[in-house]
Amino acid sequence: MPEWWRERVIYQIYPRSFKDSNGDGVGDLVGITQKLDYLKDLGIGAIWISPFFKSPQADCGYDVSDYRAVDPMFGSDQDFETLLARAHELDIKVIIDLVLNHTSCEHPWFQEARKSKDNPKHDWYIWSDGPKPPNNWLCGFTLKNAWCWNEQTKEYYLGQFTPEQPEVNWRNKELHDEMMNVLKFWLERGVDGFRLDVVNFYFKDAQMRSNPRKITRMPYMFMDHKYDRNQPEVLDVAAEMRQICNSFGERALIGEVYADDTDLAAQFQGNNDRLNIAYNFDFLYQEFSGELFRKSAQKHYQSISKYSSDNQPNFTLSNHDQVRACTRYHDSNPARDILKQKIMCVMLLTLRGTPTIYYGEEIGMKNVKVPKHLRMDPVAHASFPVNLFGRDPERTPMQWSGAEFCGFSQTQPWLPVGDVKINVEDQINNPDSLLSFYKLVLKLRNESRTLKEGNINIMEGTGELFGYRRTFEGEKIQVYLNFGNKPVVVSAKGKILVQQEIDVGEELITLKALAILVIQRE
Ligand code: NOJ
Repeated sequence: MPEWWRERVIYQIYPRSFKDSNGDGVGDLVGITQKLDYLKDLGIGAIWISPFFKSPQADCGYDVSDYRAVDPMFGSDQDFETLLARAHELDIKVIIDLVLNHTSCEHPWFQEARKSKDNPKHDWYIWSDGPKPPNNWLCGFTLKNAWCWNEQTKEYYLGQFTPEQPEVNWRNKELHDEMMNVLKFWLERGVDGFRLDVVNFYFKDAQMRSNPRKITRMPYMFMDHKYDRNQPEVLDVAAEMRQICNSFGERALIGEVYADDTDLAAQFQGNNDRLNIAYNFDFLYQEFSGELFRKSAQKHYQSISKYSSDNQPNFTLSNHDQVRACTRYHDSNPARDILKQKIMCVMLLTLRGTPTIYYGEEIGMKNVKVPKHLRMDPVAHASFPVNLFGRDPERTPMQWSGAEFCGFSQTQPWLPVGDVKINVEDQINNPDSLLSFYKLVLKLRNESRTLKEGNINIMEGTGELFGYRRTFEGEKIQVYLNFGNKPVVVSAKGKILVQQEIDVGEELITLKALAILVIQRE
């Protein structure tokens, strides 16, 4: 049997926005537990929960002040135990989000470290003597210099996200061991895997050299991030984490490796001695184009197979840091809009690889306009030329029903709710809804070894028609997705598994604009 993280569909939950069980306007762990049956019924095999650990919430939980405790905002330790037990009863794996590149500035380690240079915790963080910052490394949120002043020791510390997120020194043995203990702590509690936040940032150049200038696709102020991340030592840490995880059975390590080069992300993957999956973000930056998605998928398959042939591909369309796919590919014509979303669904769930669905994607949730005074994301408060809206618009409450506050909460939620017309309750019993479509395709995938494990052959030179064949032990499933507006005719005989916008003739099948055909070949 293939490992679970190869087969199952992962669903990302942003806990603050999934379900509020206690009426305080903020989602919580009990809320997630209440909705596990919904996820099971949908066909989800694993959930990744964004951080719910104790945190002052300077970066919405990605600033942790106690790695072992649940933040009271999300519930109690017992609530997590209950969530985990119920998920396991339903055969849903649970992945938690570990943020080990930085802590909160309120973490007791940093509170100690910043007191004096001879404090035993001082070397647990990255420091540089004044009077000037040592190099040109940037804070990704403000695009200003990443070095923050600590008056007590008259030194700079590194904060590539916010000044409230000081970065730890992975070269310090005690810090390193303590982070591994955090991993063991959660494995002992029974979690099935980890999503490692910015894992490629753990190590920085020991000499702290300035990054060279470079014109890049993702500008990030035009530098080659050669020295502020991606140092080779991180692979040793990955190998050690792999070993620890293996000693607990089949546990997944999934890394967030933001890099403008897909090859680089792929280097973090290696089933035996590295991460099982390094997130492939390339789909997040593609236009709605069959040609571009084909090229992106081909490039990813090539990249990940370089290190080891059994490396697992993965795809995702949205997450809590990026504009939702349903907004990126929005069409002002409602009929075309839903056809497009269905194409995205089939592509995500039938390509070879592990798919991750972002909460609400299955009902077509879109980004929500958040007025300036309600914005919570620190990125939204950075100044020009940073993203002016921040990431709140893709983090709004899950739309469970047409009731007030979308059935997410009894009270005004922490962020405004989106269009109540898009909601689970209305879609769940409507066979034509996006949600029913997701359920259908998920069921097809979950029951098909060909779709889960089979090889893939991508058709070349077909323009806006993205076509591929999945094969496994003699079975062949052909997928055609017409991203374009021109009809395309194909010759395909067999059992039609999923379809939209097709005309079936005696010999040929016409795929109209935005058509889908998934067919089990004779
Ligand atoms: C990546 C996370 O996805 C993002 O939300 C967070 O702000 C940064 N890492 C810093 O932890």
